[in-house]
Amino acid sequence: MLLVSGLLVWQAFVHKRTNALSMPPSPPSNHWLWGHVLPKEYPFLQIDKWIAEYGPVITLRTGFTKHVQIGRQQALIDIMERQGTVLADRPHAISTSELFAQGASIGFVPAGERIKSMRRALHTYLAPRAAEHYEPLITVHARAFILDLLDNPYDFQEHAKTFSSSLVLQVAYGKDTLTRASDPSVQQVQDQNERLRLVMSPGAYLVDTIPMLKYLPWYARRLKDGFKKDKELFESHLDDIETKMNNGDPNPSFARHLLEHEEQYQLSRIDMAFLAGALFSAGSDTTATGICGILLSLALHQEEQCMVSEEMDRIVGTERVPVFGDEDSLPILRAFIAETIRWRPIAPLALAHKTTADVYWDKYCILAGTTVQGSIWASSRDPDFYSDPEKFDIKRWLTTRAFREDMKFLAFGYGRRACPGQHLANRSLLINTMLVVWSFHLSMSPIKDCDDRLYLSGFPHQRAYDLRFKSRMGSDTLRDAIRRPAILT
Ligand code: HEM
Repeated sequence: MLLVSGLLVWQAFVHKRTNALSMPPSPPSNHWLWGHVLPKEYPFLQIDKWIAEYGPVITLRTGFTKHVQIGRQQALIDIMERQGTVLADRPHAISTSELFAQGASIGFVPAGERIKSMRRALHTYLAPRAAEHYEPLITVHARAFILDLLDNPYDFQEHAKTFSSSLVLQVAYGKDTLTRASDPSVQQVQDQNERLRLVMSPGAYLVDTIPMLKYLPWYARRLKDGFKKDKELFESHLDDIETKMNNGDPNPSFARHLLEHEEQYQLSRIDMAFLAGALFSAGSDTTATGICGILLSLALHQEEQCMVSEEMDRIVGTERVPVFGDEDSLPILRAFIAETIRWRPIAPLALAHKTTADVYWDKYCILAGTTVQGSIWASSRDPDFYSDPEKFDIKRWLTTRAFREDMKFLAFGYGRRACPGQHLANRSLLINTMLVVWSFHLSMSPIKDCDDRLYLSGFPHQRAYDLRFKSRMGSDTLRDAIRRPAILT
């Protein structure tokens, strides 16, 4: 007991004194030993409350470890973006880095040459220019999504998953057939995402406080077994690509790119397998959740949905199907997407970064080696950027005529570790929203007590909402129009 209290005093006072400036302020902790205890459900709501009371940047304590939460946009830009070189690292925790990721998943790879190489490879394949190159492919899958909705609107979540899985599997492995949500590999990746959610939920695994637990063979079995299965899945995909290449298959893919540039990237075989797999695991559930969030938002905000539909009718009309080239002429639709992502962010907590040098901000210093988390949720409630932040208000993204390009919301994380798939994801959300609005009028089926926050916990196992899709032009006409070959400009 005395030793524990001594350690806490050292952490809180002596350690801090090595630098003249203090760490950002702390709210009172809930427990003398555990520190700031966060609820398991929607933990970001508690962080938001503390940010509102104690300032944009706060220090929390979990056991003996201090970590910093940033919850306002300007502070995020000043710290995570402008000082990004010293925030490119990830914290090491036994539960996440060792038991869940076993050093292989990019999201937990520390700063250094290895992550630089991985991100360089991803950039080649997913940078804005590259994402534009995928527009024809995205369009094909988005049209299949509309046909799925027409045939069976009840399973809209499954269809969104079919869209995102088919797209990322084609980019990652050149797979050119539909991958249904019921496919075993999609189920396995969903399981991986659930394990990730579990391992990241506050206080889920005691091993981070009592490290020797990791040596117990029965401890955290789900994480250990899950990793083995992920490894088998991703390695088998990579092996397949190699076999196809050796047999003269010309299909391009990210996995093939990695194999062909093995010398350049200097990545091990397991790194290549997990990096290609990361497109699947990081890109599939997130994109599907984003699409479902937009469908829900359309159904909930009838007045705004009518504004978007009216713009669609005026600009595109009913004689042709909307295409990517219509983007600049549809500011209201773009505002609707931007406001939905702000109002209900797809990844409200993001992933933690770690400082590799002291970071100065305002009158504070965040010491080297500190875990720093940018709270996407709290920043979406930033009153300096978004007046009346709880209100769903698409007008905040519009001037009298255009979409406000100067407005920013960091929905995809920050600095050197920002989401490399964001351009592909944004193109996907855009064309799906265009096609849905052109095709349907959406409404909620009249169920009571709709909790519109369910997608904040990630892609749900079961259908979270009952949405109704009414075809705006009659099912047969719509089916014919969507089936007609796309004019992709
Ligand atoms: C709407 C969809 C998506 C959202 C909201 C999203 C959000 C995020 C966020 C918040 C992070 C953490 C950033 C940080 O640490 O600062 C991240 C990381 C990542 N995302 Fe995404 N993402 C989406 C789609 C995608 C797609 C489509 C791909 C790939 C095809 C992808 C690949 C990755 C990878 C590989 C990382 C890890 C980067 C690293 O650790 O360096 N994501 N994403």
